[in-house]
Amino acid sequence: MLTRVPAPVITASSLTKRYGEFTAVDGIDFEVTAGESFGLLGPNGAGKSTTMRMISAVSRRTGGDLQVLGLDPETHGPQIRSQLGVVPQEDNLDPDMRARDNLIMYGRYFGLPRAVCRERAEELLEFAQLTDKAGAKVDDLSGGMKRRLTIARGLMNTPQIFMLDEPTTGLDPQARHVLWDRLFRLKEAGTTLVITTHYMDEAEQLCDRLIVVDHGAIMAEGSPADLIRRYSSREVLEVRFGSSRNAEVADDVAAIGALAERVEVLPDRLLVYTPDGERALEEVVGRGLHPTTSLVRRSSLEDVFLRLTGRSLVD
Ligand SMILES: Nc1ncnc2c1ncn2[C@@H]1O[C@H](COP(=O)(O)OP(=O)(O)OP(=O)(O)O)[C@@H](O)[C@H]1O
Ligand SMILES: [Mg+2]
Repeated sequence: MLTRVPAPVITASSLTKRYGEFTAVDGIDFEVTAGESFGLLGPNGAGKSTTMRMISAVSRRTGGDLQVLGLDPETHGPQIRSQLGVVPQEDNLDPDMRARDNLIMYGRYFGLPRAVCRERAEELLEFAQLTDKAGAKVDDLSGGMKRRLTIARGLMNTPQIFMLDEPTTGLDPQARHVLWDRLFRLKEAGTTLVITTHYMDEAEQLCDRLIVVDHGAIMAEGSPADLIRRYSSREVLEVRFGSSRNAEVADDVAAIGALAERVEVLPDRLLVYTPDGERALEEVVGRGLHPTTSLVRRSSLEDVFLRLTGRSLVD
């Protein structure tokens, strides 16, 4: 049992994963500090899950170095796995077993005494709001309930690092907010969180720091607020001119000058990155361009993501 964990708890340098000729993770460097909540953000196929699996010591790296809790996953897989809570992207519960028994079995696998497993399972069923489904077979749970059970299972061994690969995909908004609250409490209690997500609000709520990855490489790193400051404008004006006209009027919109730092053409709307959305809108309308709808908002991580990867997250 490790008593005091030195920071950082995860160090990756030139971490690489190749599948044959294909490079899924292309020499990335990052560190995760004890107690921090660290995010991996990136479009489909960016290499997030591959990175998570290498950290979790279930997939071997093909290059570079990796240390998890001061140990090399290559040589200390079991020791690392015993200190990690893992929520994989795809639920891999035992479908024939009851919800409670899935948790108990998992705890037994880590060598915890049966009585401890029972007690912990009840606590975690409560944590996942599944107490009334404790006796239900996994196959009879809804998708969101399975997800919650997988998350609960990941905590059976009271991990130092909790790895969550798209934890809230498929959860309803209420369950999602409850989970955020629970994760926040775990973090307050000192658990390190490593999270991948496609939800920008989730990343903004949960992550102290994150990396944006694309094609296996890191595009940017920082806190959500940092990244927004560095890669986006203060405000965003969203205007719609009808699907056929958006691209057509983009140049005219861009011509409003300093009020349009950048214009992004999406299929359904134009995004005008601007220091002042209301004034930008006045300027657009003043030039005889009349959007069918308009909206001014603050910049978000979504905008950072779009800027860095050229893709929107939810397409
Ligand atoms: N076992 C494998 N064999 C071959 N290629 C793989 C394998 N696992 C992943 N890949 C490839 O590696 C790349 C990265 O996959 P990965 O699952 O890490 O992406 P991701 O960022 O988690 O994407 P998503 O957001 O869709 O979950 C993809 O191009 C994928 O096809
Ligand atoms: Mg993935």
